[in-house]
Order: sequence, then C-alpha cells, then structure tokens
Amino acid sequence: MFKAAVITASDKGAQELREDLSGPCIKKILEKASYEVVSIDILPDDRNLIADKLIELSDRKIPLILTTGGTGFAPRDNTPEATRDVIEKETPGISEAIRAESLKITPRAMLSRAVSGIRKQSLIINLPGSPKAVRECLDFILPTLEHGLNIMLSLDSECARK
Ligand code: MTE
Repeated sequence: MFKAAVITASDKGAQELREDLSGPCIKKILEKASYEVVSIDILPDDRNLIADKLIELSDRKIPLILTTGGTGFAPRDNTPEATRDVIEKETPGISEAIRAESLKITPRAMLSRAVSGIRKQSLIINLPGSPKAVRECLDFILPTLEHGLNIMLSLDSECARK
C-alpha cells in the first residue's frame, strides 16, 4: 500500500464558492486501488502556493501526489508551471499516455497542458479538473503506476537488478 496526496487547484473551490468534487473523487478511486490518502488540499490557482505544497508533500516522502485542475488555457491555470518549478525529472510518458487515451474520448483532451515528474521520492501527476476527466485518466494509468512507484522507491528487486 502506497501513501498518496491530492491537491485540487481551483480559485472558486478554495474560496468555497464551488464544491470540490474532483478531490474526493480521486480519493475514492485511490482508496479502492489500495492507496492510503494522507492529505487532500484545495488551493487557489496560484503558482507559488501550489509549488510550495508540492515541495511540502514531497519532503514528507509521499510517493504519489495527484493534482486536479488548472491545466487548461485560462489565465489562472498554473498547475503545470508550478509542477515544473519543483520536479527534478520529467515523466512525459505518463502525461502523453493520459492525453493519448483521453483523445479517444474527447478532442478537448488536447487542451490539457498537464505534466508529470519526480521530486525526491514522489511522483507528481497533473490531472484535468472535472470528476469525469479524473476518472477517465486514473482508470487508465493506475494499473501501471504501481510498477513505476516500486522502481522509484527501489522496491522492485527484479528491476533493481537490471
Ligand atoms: N481529459 C479527459 N480524459 N476527459 C475530459 O473530459 N477535458 C478536457 C481536458 N482533458 C477532459 C480531458 C478539457 S475540456 C480541458 S479544458 C482540459 O482538460 C483542461 O482542464 P482543466 O483546466 O480543468 O485542468
């Protein structure tokens, strides 16, 4: 069982002007997949605040950090920039796979600028903002993530030997 954290980036959500449905949706999906969700935050779409939270969570060595929202074209969509500010290694395959699979569902998937990467021993993945999109993306990536997390944490002895 891996620990996981969830960040919802939403100006309206942070001001309680809109109910955050995507964060709880991610938590439910992760728990069903046997992750232990240790933190769930709603932050405004502020690049520095999001980056600071990503640093705090990865300093706590939480292996999986999922963000939702703020990946589109709106002036206040800053999640990919905040993520790039903190990651040490990019994991483009994950974001490419999310977009490729999502494009089979909606052409609007091309409008997500989501990125992903590793800081210390944490894998950070941007997901789009709606509960529907979150479900679609997680259904596709979760089965493969465990292998990647095991390698990142040097828990996979077969891969560690190679
Ligand atoms: N990906 C999937 N799988 N399903 C979706 O419905 N919506 C898209 C895209 N990615 C969508 C998706 C839309 S409409 C937008 S604008 C972008 O994600 C960015 O969303 P965000 O700004 O909420 O992060």
